[in-house]
Amino acid sequence: TRKVRIHHLQELKDRGEPWPMLTAYDMYTAGLFDEAGIPVLLVGDSAANNVYGYDTSLPVTVDELLFLTRGVTRSVKNALVVADLPFGSYQVSVEQAVTTAVRFMKEGRAHAVKLEGGRRFAPHVEAIVAAGIPVMGHIGFTPQSEHQLGGYRVQGRDEKGDAVLADAVALEQAGAFAVVLEMVTAEVAKRVTHELRIPTVGIGAGPDCDAQVLVWTDMAGMRRGKMPRFVKQYADMASVLGNAASEFAAEVRGRAFPGPEHSFH
Ligand code: KIV
Ligand code: NA
Repeated sequence: TRKVRIHHLQELKDRGEPWPMLTAYDMYTAGLFDEAGIPVLLVGDSAANNVYGYDTSLPVTVDELLFLTRGVTRSVKNALVVADLPFGSYQVSVEQAVTTAVRFMKEGRAHAVKLEGGRRFAPHVEAIVAAGIPVMGHIGFTPQSEHQLGGYRVQGRDEKGDAVLADAVALEQAGAFAVVLEMVTAEVAKRVTHELRIPTVGIGAGPDCDAQVLVWTDMAGMRRGKMPRFVKQYADMASVLGNAASEFAAEVRGRAFPGPEHSFH
């Protein structure tokens, strides 16, 4: 095994081999996913919902994500760790975008950053790449723009597919090493994947993307409640942990724990 580099991800696309990506927000998940052979881990701003208990990704701060990023990067051996730039930390100016990206590399020890937005953010991407920092783009449905987009809606329907493609091409030309396509039609994602040299990473974007990403708490059933259509649950972590806590509680109340083997004399 060896450290995953951005050129390896390009080689996978060139060979036609799809690759997986998951979010991770702490050392245990990062270590487990790294050992499971997930080549790219994202410290997503979805930590807003999945760590900090916010109802959207908008309130999460650079500092809140930096702490998580440090835990993840300290815990991986091979995976490439991508840090999400949160809302408000790069939209103000190109300078602000570079400054924030540098913080995630220096203080978070991330290996790359990700930001949301297409053509209008090409200058930001270009400036961060010029600073020596790999950038992953993110277009289609972009949660930080939820209020502008009018809620969680599939993007690229009808004639709007051309706009998604134009955004993707602009990001590639700005030097992005990959681009996330979130909630775009499978047809548009297929077209974008074919037109781009760099890998596309789909989430709710059909089977033809070069890579697939899921939020780990969705993927492993850590989160209860209604899942988006694009989620597949591979485990029921909520039940596993909930049952463990219930059993512990019952054994304490019933004086079954601790036993003699857990006690010192
Ligand atoms: O924050 C996040 O989890 C993401 C992925 C869904 C791509 O941006
Ligand atoms: Na995100």
